[in-house]
This record gives sequence, C-alpha cells and structure tokens, in this order.
Amino acid sequence: MKSKRIKLAPSVLSADFSRLGEQVAEVTKAGADYIHVDVMDGHFVPNISIGAPVVASLRSWTNLPLDVHLMIERPEVHISQFAEAGADIITVHVEVCQHLHRLVEAIKGLGVKAGVSLNPATPLGSLDEILPLLDLVLVMTVNPGFGGQAFIESMVDKISRLREMLDDRQAKAELEVDGGITASVAPRVAQAGAEVLVAGAAIFNSKQSAGEALHEMRRALDLAG
Ligand code: DX5
Ligand code: ZN
Repeated sequence: MKSKRIKLAPSVLSADFSRLGEQVAEVTKAGADYIHVDVMDGHFVPNISIGAPVVASLRSWTNLPLDVHLMIERPEVHISQFAEAGADIITVHVEVCQHLHRLVEAIKGLGVKAGVSLNPATPLGSLDEILPLLDLVLVMTVNPGFGGQAFIESMVDKISRLREMLDDRQAKAELEVDGGITASVAPRVAQAGAEVLVAGAAIFNSKQSAGEALHEMRRALDLAG
C-alpha cells in the first residue's frame, strides 16, 4: 500500500527576512504545503522573532495555509490579531495555557484551525481531554526557541505513541513535527506516523536554493516510500 503523502511546512524563521516574500513564493512554487511562521516572545522561549504584521504581509505572497506557531505567553491576548492577519492554523503551547479548552474554542471561534504543541519533556497525557477538539498536534523535536538545532532522537518513539493514540481514538488532528528535520531525519519521522514536517534550517540554507532543498526533502521521503 502506498503511504500517504507527507506535507512539508517550511519554517520562515531561517529565511532571509530582507526578502521573506520572495522566499515564501519560492517554496510555494516548489511544492510546499504550509508556510510555518514561528512567533517568539522572549519570555516563553529565549528569543524574539516576528509578529502579526509579518503574517499579514506574507498573506499576499502565497495562497498556502499560514501555519502560525505561537511560542508566547498569554496567547489568548494575541490570537485575534493573528486570525485577522490571515493565519489559517494557530498553534499554542500546552505549557503556557491554564485554560486550554477555552483557548482552543476561542481559536476555532475565529474561524481558524486550532493546534496544540508539546515541548519535548511534556507528556502526551496532557492532550487526553482536548484531543477530540484539535485540528493539529505539534510535537516539538527540539526545545523551542531557535532554528538549526539537532533533532532529539528519543522523540521518534513519542511520535509513534501519538500516532497510535490518534488512530485508536479516531481523532482528526494532523500530526505535525517541528525541530531538526533534515532530508535524512524526515523519512524516519514519517515512518513513525507524522503527517506534516516543519523544516527551517534544512530548507533555507546557504548551500542550495530553498526550492532545491524542498525538492531534496521530498525525494528523500519518496525514496523511503
Ligand atoms: C523552533 C521552531 C521551529 C524552527 C525549526 O523553536 O518552532 O519551527 O524554526 O527550525 P529547524 O528546522 O531549523 O530546526
Ligand atoms: Zn515552529
């Protein structure tokens, strides 16, 4: 049986911010499935990146879903801004949410898909009650905050266990994986049951164009079946 086509979500965190629109257009043309936008506040993670105005600017450079990953404290204060800016998916971290159910409902109420992300040390059990409501679960395979970090190998088993949990419960949430994904790591992560792979440094690098890097990752996945 041919396995399901894996979606690729280039993370613009590693792109050249001075020509972000062009780079997003390039990966769109090369066959990306989502554009992953990492929002960091310098509090939840030790780095500051970009905010809603950048999401709004990117909206005119691609027709792909904008997959907004909020690595911020108090996400409830900011979700409407991101929805207005054109986000299609908004993902929040379980570690910062005291009222996760309320927040997920609020995201969906804005007409946006709702995702929840887990840091490497956060157990899958934290999803138990919320799983049926989610459109996406994002498994972090690095500690969030920076692009270009090494994939944490022990996360392959966590991805497999989440795959089982989603299948057993017939949950509709997509399983997305973020952090340290390269053309050599991607096939194993797909094999473990991931459906969407985020990749930053592997796509936006100085050795090849973003389009070439995306094709290389796609080839590696196709070869592995
Ligand atoms: C990490 C971010 C990631 C990051 C991935 O905190 O959430 O989306 O940009 O970058 P790479 O693929 O370079 O690990
Ligand atoms: Zn991310």
